Amino acid sequence: MDGNGRWAKARKKPRHAGHRAGVKAVRATVEAAAERGVKVLTLFAFSSENWGRPESEVSSLMSLFVEALRREVSELHRNNVRLRFIGALEQLSDGLQAKMAEAVRKTAGNTGLVLNVAVAYGGRWDIVRAARTLARRASEGEIELEHIDADTIAAELQLAGMPDPDLLIRTGGEQRISNFLLWNLAYAELWFTDVLWPDFDKAEFDKALAAFARKQRRYGQTGEQIEAAEC
Ligand code: IPE
Ligand code: MG
Repeated sequence: MDGNGRWAKARKKPRHAGHRAGVKAVRATVEAAAERGVKVLTLFAFSSENWGRPESEVSSLMSLFVEALRREVSELHRNNVRLRFIGALEQLSDGLQAKMAEAVRKTAGNTGLVLNVAVAYGGRWDIVRAARTLARRASEGEIELEHIDADTIAAELQLAGMPDPDLLIRTGGEQRISNFLLWNLAYAELWFTDVLWPDFDKAEFDKALAAFARKQRRYGQTGEQIEAAEC
């Protein structure tokens, strides 16, 4: 979700106003995803590298997370959304962690859209953690070295048990992954748009879905193989 700062700057407003406007785009996107039958939506809200922003911006983002949780969770719950958080959550304030845990508990039984919010998340951090866990198990003799493969690594990642994302959407014009779900995005289709995050809405979401629908997923195979398998 990129472009909040530029959106605000273009309106001669402080960056915080852009982040606030970004919450609205989150609401629209979650609604669109649920309506379109998306099963899992993962939002990159705050990266491990975002801690390096000016302290005032970090603290206003943290306040915004608390406020958004307070305002949005009931509605998400009513809409059968199951909320989860991924990332180094222990780096967050106790108050924010408590609010997150409460929201997760409240929505745990919901059967609709799974909404993962990545906070203090980094794709490399995620893989390092998994590697450490598996290395510890191997060194303690719990698992054989040969047992470590793509599936056992995936099972230790933050999105363990979830399907790999089919589609990555990045707003704000940059064409890079910026340490998001590095492992899980291996075969994702990528959709980059110049639209700034606060301007992202259902219509923009539908453009990404329409482009996705035109893609042939080959996973290393040939187009002919895929077509034959589809018949
Ligand atoms: C993304 O918007 C929001 C967060 C990282 C929380 P930016 O804040 O990166 O906006 P730009 O890139 O400065 O426009
Ligand atoms: Mg940015």
